[in-house]
Amino acid sequence: MSKTIVALDFSSKEEVVNFLNKFDQPIYVKIGMELTYACGLDIVKTVKDMGHNIFLDLKLHDIPNTVKGGMKNLAKLGVNITNCHAAGGVAMMKAAKEGLVAGAQGEDIPMCIAVTQLTSTSKEAMNDELGIPGEVIDSVVKYALNAKAAGLDGVVCSVHEAAAIKEACGKDFLTVTPGIRLATDSVDDQKRVATPAYAKEQGCDYIVVGRSITKSEDPVATYNFIEDMMK
Ligand code: C5P
Repeated sequence: MSKTIVALDFSSKEEVVNFLNKFDQPIYVKIGMELTYACGLDIVKTVKDMGHNIFLDLKLHDIPNTVKGGMKNLAKLGVNITNCHAAGGVAMMKAAKEGLVAGAQGEDIPMCIAVTQLTSTSKEAMNDELGIPGEVIDSVVKYALNAKAAGLDGVVCSVHEAAAIKEACGKDFLTVTPGIRLATDSVDDQKRVATPAYAKEQGCDYIVVGRSITKSEDPVATYNFIEDMMK
């Protein structure tokens, strides 16, 4: 199973199909809100029918009952990973899991991971805008422990927090890390970034890579280069 999840941050089915047609092997992809809001959930079926593994990144965050109902419907799509915001609290995360179990109806239950602090959030923004005092890593580890207590499979975090999460939650608790940049890339809107090599060193289970691959002149070569670094 590949360690690199490619973020399909495109706005049309045509762009997605053109991009995926470049690959002659199944890869792991992330379908997020940009693509889902442009194409609807039908895009999940399109990508699944092409043989790829899917992390459906819709970051649910609402009252527990609504999240449970949402996840129940998402479970029917046959994706591999779904997610919700840890900021929704333990009861909401438990409800997310319950929804997935109910919706899977005996089929494979999608994994559910919690978004901790977005990799675009700086310490200053977390302290001054979100009103969460202290260091980002402390908030992220607290969120990860909550996610574990709720029975989730892991978290989305930055590479810089992965080792502390493994230490607090155990090695089987998944860490999925966006904010990945090659040494030659621009950082864009991300704040807590790191290279694939550093992600491997920190014990990240999966890295999520968007623009470094999708905007590359040769996406397949860049994907293979990154995947080799993660092996
Ligand atoms: O282009 P880039 O590699 O920055 O894309 C990162 C992807 O990971 C985006 O789809 C973004 O929504 C997602 N993501 C993130 N930080 C999180 C959770 C998800 O950047 N904490």
